[in-house]
Amino acid sequence: MSENVIYCYSGTGNCLDMAKKIARGMGGADIVLMRKAPAVTDATAYKRMGFVVPCYGGGLPGGVEDYVKSIRIAPDAYKFGVIQFAGYMGSGLHKIDKIVGLDYWNTLPMQSSAIWLMPHWLCFPPKTVKMALKGLDKKAGKIAADVKAQVKSKKAPPKRVICAIESAGFPTVNKLLNKSMHVSDACIGCGTCAKLCPKGNIEIRGGKAHVGKNCIACMTCVQYCPKEAINVGKITRNRERYQNPNVRQDELTEQIIHI
Ligand SMILES: Cc1cc2nc3c(=O)[nH]c(=O)nc-3n(C[C@H](O)[C@H](O)[C@H](O)COP(=O)(O)O)c2cc1C
Repeated sequence: MSENVIYCYSGTGNCLDMAKKIARGMGGADIVLMRKAPAVTDATAYKRMGFVVPCYGGGLPGGVEDYVKSIRIAPDAYKFGVIQFAGYMGSGLHKIDKIVGLDYWNTLPMQSSAIWLMPHWLCFPPKTVKMALKGLDKKAGKIAADVKAQVKSKKAPPKRVICAIESAGFPTVNKLLNKSMHVSDACIGCGTCAKLCPKGNIEIRGGKAHVGKNCIACMTCVQYCPKEAINVGKITRNRERYQNPNVRQDELTEQIIHI
C-alpha cells in the first residue's frame, strides 16, 4: 500500500488525468474514485492525502461533499486539494477545506473542456485540447513537487459569495438540464452511457438508453456516447464531444487505481 492517497472525482477524465500525473510526480499514490461512494473511507493509514476534483456549477459535483465527509483521516496526515475548472475555481475547495482542513491547495484551469456550454474555441484565450493539456502537465508536476515537500499554503481557499449562490442554485439547473436530456434514434443500446453514469441513472430498455431523474449533469453520457445519440435539448446537438485523451473509458469506472 502506498503512503499517499488521492480522492478524485472525474466526469470527462481531466481530473483523473491530473490525479495520475500528480501521483506519478509524488512517486506513487492510490487513487480512489469518488464518482460513486468511495470504496476506501478509512484513510487513516495514509501520510499524505489529496482531493482532485472539478468545479461544477461554482461548487462540487453532486455527492462529493458527502463522500468527503465520510472519509476518516489520520490526525497528522498532510492534506491537499486541487480543483480543475474551465473559467473560475468556484467554492469547491473552500467546502473541502471546511471539512478536512487543507494544508495546501492549487488550481488547474482546463479551458477546453466546457463544451456542453460552449465550443472550446469560444473560451478565452482559445486553446486546442493539446495546448491546454501541455500547460497542465507542467503545473501538475509543480503541484506534485510541492506535495512531496509538504509545502503549506499561506491562505485558505477563497469563499466567493457569488459561487456559493451559484452552487446553491445548481441543483435546480441540474433538474432543468435533466428534463432536457434526450436520447435519439441513433442510440444502439450499447450501454456505454449506463456503464459510465456515476449515479446509475441510465438504464438500457428495449435496446435503447433511458435517462432517469437523478442526473448531476456531468455530461459523461453526452460526451462518451459513440453515436452522439444523447443530447441536452438542442444545446449539444452537432457540437464536438470532449473526452480527456489520456484517460481510458474503463478507468473512469474503476474504484481504485494504483500508481
Ligand atoms: C456540470 C458541469 C458544471 C461545470 N461548472 C463549471 C463552473 O461553474 N465553472 C467552471 O469554471 N467550470 C465548470 N465546469 C467545467 C469543469 O470544471 C471542467 O470541465 C473540468 O475540467 C472537468 O473535469 P473532469 O473531466 O474531470 O470531469 C463544469 C463542467 C460540468 C460538466
